[in-house]
Amino acid sequence: MKRLHLSLALTCCLQWAASYAQENASQTIATLAASCAACHGPIGNSLGGTPTLAALNKTYFIQRMQGFKSGSLPSTVMHHHAKGLTDDEITALAGYFAALPIRAPAPAPQQSFLGEQ
Ligand code: HEC
Repeated sequence: MKRLHLSLALTCCLQWAASYAQENASQTIATLAASCAACHGPIGNSLGGTPTLAALNKTYFIQRMQGFKSGSLPSTVMHHHAKGLTDDEITALAGYFAALPIRAPAPAPQQSFLGEQ
């Protein structure tokens, strides 16, 4: 009976550890992705000037990032960012952004916001 309790406790503990590790990994990717938002816009939707990352094809995303990382693709800033990421992180980021929806651009401000002209 004692053995059964011990193995139950162990199974429970292992399950908890596995789900904790998984949750931790997706939190790390969300944190990494947040650093991209400064230029690529909130949740992958660019506000202009940089490409939108939301809904980008995974293979294309990985090819571009690996190109920036190796220097085979010319870039102004992306080589710095890509070089700091492992291949696993690039793959995880590709999945993260591919799953994000493209949002409709914010509506243009109404005339009344602009004041009398
Ligand atoms: C300082 C601003 C800046 C930050 C931060 C930044 N990017 Fe970029 N990104 C750019 C610019 C600018 C380009 C266009 C290529 C270039 O000139 O470097 C680009 C291009 C890309 C492209 C190619 C898109 C396409 O359609 O060709 C991908 C993919 C990308 N960035 C992913 C990321 C990821 C992932 C992060 C976060 C880890 C990130 N970027 C952080 C500015 C930034």
